[in-house]
Amino acid sequence: MASAAAAPAYKGTTETSKDNIVEVRNISKTYGTDIHALDAINLAFPTGQMTTLLGPSGCGKTTLLKIIAGLLEPSDGQVFVHGRPVTGPGPERAFVFQDFALLPWATVLRNVGFGLELTKHPKSEREEKARHYINEVGLAGFEDKYPHELSGGMRQRVGLARAMAVDADVLLMDEPFSAVDEQTRRKFQEDLLHLLSVERKTVIFVTHSIEEAVYVSDQIVLLSPRPGRIHATIRPDISRDISPDDIRRNKTYLDTVEEIWTDLRKYLD
Ligand SMILES: Nc1ncnc2c1ncn2[C@@H]1O[C@H](COP(=O)(O)OP(=O)(O)O)[C@@H](O)[C@H]1O
Ligand SMILES: [Mg+2]
Repeated sequence: MASAAAAPAYKGTTETSKDNIVEVRNISKTYGTDIHALDAINLAFPTGQMTTLLGPSGCGKTTLLKIIAGLLEPSDGQVFVHGRPVTGPGPERAFVFQDFALLPWATVLRNVGFGLELTKHPKSEREEKARHYINEVGLAGFEDKYPHELSGGMRQRVGLARAMAVDADVLLMDEPFSAVDEQTRRKFQEDLLHLLSVERKTVIFVTHSIEEAVYVSDQIVLLSPRPGRIHATIRPDISRDISPDDIRRNKTYLDTVEEIWTDLRKYLD
């Protein structure tokens, strides 16, 4: 069964735990004078795990992700990465945009290596890493193609390979699968889980799909809207050693989906 745990209590300490690569302390965000997007959020993101922020539209998921990325300043509170306060974007965090923002004029090889180009890695190293991740996402043979020559699902894989290729410890993904059809989405979720089983990355993942959250997550944070608050934290207890199809038929998986749905439906008008 899924277990619900309270948000961590910090009691004003400035110490962070080594087990949690990212810690969010007492984060609030007000846009303008009266749009309370987030209210006193405390969260810990365990190193090497996948945490999902789940909740209805408008509950502040993107706002929280951007604050963790250092792209947006909170009105109150602090974010720590590797125990250090965040003051802006940093190389240890990679933000994966919804449309993956591929460069249309660059080949797959260059797109995948682009993050490394920005950080001035030599060409040979860039290309070697890019080829490795192109392989990992199943796009070997497509190195010299341009984005417009690929299907939507393939373009997303290029984006995923690029995110993996940069040396970021933390991947921040804002609804990466929302623009694709259901089959592509499922395949992509499987690819992501496969990649994470071989790469030690911490992923903070935003979705409004309950099934997706339960399928991919070690930890799910349920947010309630207006203002965004933590409603519950759930750790689905599902073995990742069984096949994707077996996970989707697994009783714990199905029960957890229902449990979250029952919990969240009161926030939907
Ligand atoms: N730049 C902004 N200016 C004013 N209000 C905003 C801005 N961005 C988001 N909001 C508001 O903040 C709340 C949370 O938004 P958001 O973080 O995008 O939620 P989610 O990603 O969960 O849908 C919503 O009420 C939204 O309208
Ligand atoms: Mg959003």
